Amino acid sequence: MARPHNDNFLRALLREPVDYTPLWLMRQAGRYLPEYNETRRRAGNFLNLCKSPSMACEVTLQPLARYKLDAAILFSDILTIPDAMGLGLYFAEGEGPKFERPLREEWAIRDLTVPDPYDHLRYVLDAVSEIRRALDNSVPLIGFSGSPFTLACYMVEGGGSSDHRTIKTMLYQRPDLLHHILDINAQAVTAYLNAQIEAGAQAVQIFDTWGGALSHRAFQEFSLAYLKKVVSGLKKSHDGERVPCIVFTKGGGQWLESMADIGCDALGLDWTTSLGDARRRVGDKVALQGNLDPITLFAGPDAIAAEATRVLEDYASTGGPMTGHVFNLGHGISQFTPPEHVTALVETVHNFRA
Ligand code: CP3
Repeated sequence: MARPHNDNFLRALLREPVDYTPLWLMRQAGRYLPEYNETRRRAGNFLNLCKSPSMACEVTLQPLARYKLDAAILFSDILTIPDAMGLGLYFAEGEGPKFERPLREEWAIRDLTVPDPYDHLRYVLDAVSEIRRALDNSVPLIGFSGSPFTLACYMVEGGGSSDHRTIKTMLYQRPDLLHHILDINAQAVTAYLNAQIEAGAQAVQIFDTWGGALSHRAFQEFSLAYLKKVVSGLKKSHDGERVPCIVFTKGGGQWLESMADIGCDALGLDWTTSLGDARRRVGDKVALQGNLDPITLFAGPDAIAAEATRVLEDYASTGGPMTGHVFNLGHGISQFTPPEHVTALVETVHNFRA
């Protein structure tokens, strides 16, 4: 199977020469786009949208029709895994994700099993195949999953949390129980990502959204160790092409050296870390992805161009070859972002030359 016509994203991740710095945006398909809100209305709710391969395909393509992005990302959610485990995922309007049966009792934790992605998560794999057909080799498709720890946060808290009190109490009081959950999650994430790769995902990203909420020591033991387990179990290539893996720990800037050693191809950075410093710290072990503050997109086109250029120049300041950088936001795009502001960002990144 050949690379897509525009393979700058894959080349940057594999640190091969690129024509320009490629970009995509975390949450690029979402509520800031009126066409997304229209499809979601038709679906009835967000979960129906995720569970319909044809509608998931439709919204995956929406940002690519508007902007010259260099990759598509599967439209889904990280919480499909705990949903498949039987925790009862639902989205209360305006309140974010919730679980009917949060994972707290020892018996429930001992009963937890690894879902078979070809059975309980078939709808995701069907969406991947349908999106690949629709993309027709134009740009690569990214598959994704949450990290074992980030999934455990939602599973144990039963939804979002400002202080992660329940899971962190478990971490300090019953580390054995948390390790059991993380071990099951790592197996589930590995099988899920490998199934996405088999179905046609050309790169994968692991979202460790809450790893940065852990202490220095706890991060190594409860998040990084399981990220490493997942990465080492991933298929490295499919159809004769390498399938690069990106690990994004929000708030993980202080751990880049140890993260660069787990076998992934790239690290995602939030906006609190300098890309140039990061490059000097990790050397040529991994590619880097990031890291514009998403709120920059609320300022006008001139401010957006200036800030994006700062990010690009910070990376270029290392003087290395112009590859190994995938431009992105430091976290997901806000639902209140004016869609027309994204155009200025895409143009600035594509026209930049060090
Ligand atoms: O990047 C993309 O375009 C792909 C789609 C995608 C979604 N969620 C769609 C979504 C991806 C990659 C995710 C990942 C995800 N989901 C993460 C990790 C990334 C991150 O932001 O740190 C997390 C923590 C979740 C869990 C989740 N799903 C939350 C907390 C919420 C509520 C968000 C909010 O702002 O209310 C969701 C819902 C969700 N996932 C939406 C979208 C487009 C909004 C749902 C809607 O239409 O109402």
